[in-house]
Amino acid sequence: MFLENLEREILELKKRKNAIILAHYYQDDELQDIADFVGDSLDLSKKASSTDAKIIAFCGVTFMGEVAKLLSPGKKVIVPDIKAGCSLEDSCKVEHLKKFISSVENPFVLAYINSSVHVKAISDSICTSSSAEKIINNIPKDKNIVFVPDKFLGNYLQKKTGREMKIWQGTCIVHENFSEKHVISLKLENPDAKVVAHPECPATLLKYADFVGSTSQILSYIEKSGFFKFIVLTEPGIIHQARKILPSGIFLPVESVNSSGTCTMCSKCPYMRLNTMEKLYHCLDKEEPSIEIDPSIFHDAKSAVENMFFYLDK
Ligand code: 13P
Ligand code: SF4
Repeated sequence: MFLENLEREILELKKRKNAIILAHYYQDDELQDIADFVGDSLDLSKKASSTDAKIIAFCGVTFMGEVAKLLSPGKKVIVPDIKAGCSLEDSCKVEHLKKFISSVENPFVLAYINSSVHVKAISDSICTSSSAEKIINNIPKDKNIVFVPDKFLGNYLQKKTGREMKIWQGTCIVHENFSEKHVISLKLENPDAKVVAHPECPATLLKYADFVGSTSQILSYIEKSGFFKFIVLTEPGIIHQARKILPSGIFLPVESVNSSGTCTMCSKCPYMRLNTMEKLYHCLDKEEPSIEIDPSIFHDAKSAVENMFFYLDK
């Protein structure tokens, strides 16, 4: 089907089925454009819990769809590709995490949203990159925080909050692989550019950043900073929205380093980019794949998600 026809069919299906389309900033441009709402993990969780639609079509990664289902159990949550996982989620299996926690006295398990629903179910609260700092500052001081699964985000937060944490050693395969050499050469060639970075990047890259934040926070910085040239140390899907909010802006993506050298394409998240317009059309048409959550862990996982909002508002 041609793109214009696909767009029309998707919009028709969406209307007929009373569905809402949510998309993360790392989705392909056309998925961002057809979505009713585009946001970071926290914005998308909030939107999923407040919509009146009967069906939520979630274009992101599966753990995001799971959070939507936990917050809106009465709604059908469908995703274009159920295999859209995350390297951070894969790094942390619940049996191993239980062992990791067992050595900690009076633990408070804080799980980054990029984790499985099973991990969330044994956690005290979840957080996103935009909510983590505030949540950590609100966790009672007598608790020993166990932060899972992102070591770079954990290290960044430990430094930022001054709160010591026991940190799981997972990584995001996108953010850990940006080329430091390329950041340095972009900075030398563009001395007027500001470096914006996601806190999933290692400290060796964050040291170059003028601003560190979640995807939404990066976009807000771009909008309000008064600068117009940016070196972008996060998944390049964000550049689509950046161009919309600052049409005169120049956005320079950073190459990734992998075993076969450097490449700009490789900095696209291989999980997020599994979703396509065709798959979105099919999932709206068939109303599957849908997110189902094991009833035996539903309540505990939902509590951990709700606790994020509790600690955020404290
Ligand atoms: P944000 O919450 O900043 O959108 O991050 C999600 C993510 O997966 C980053 O890799
Ligand atoms: Fe996971 Fe990294 Fe992809 Fe985000 S960019 S979904 S953290 S693999």
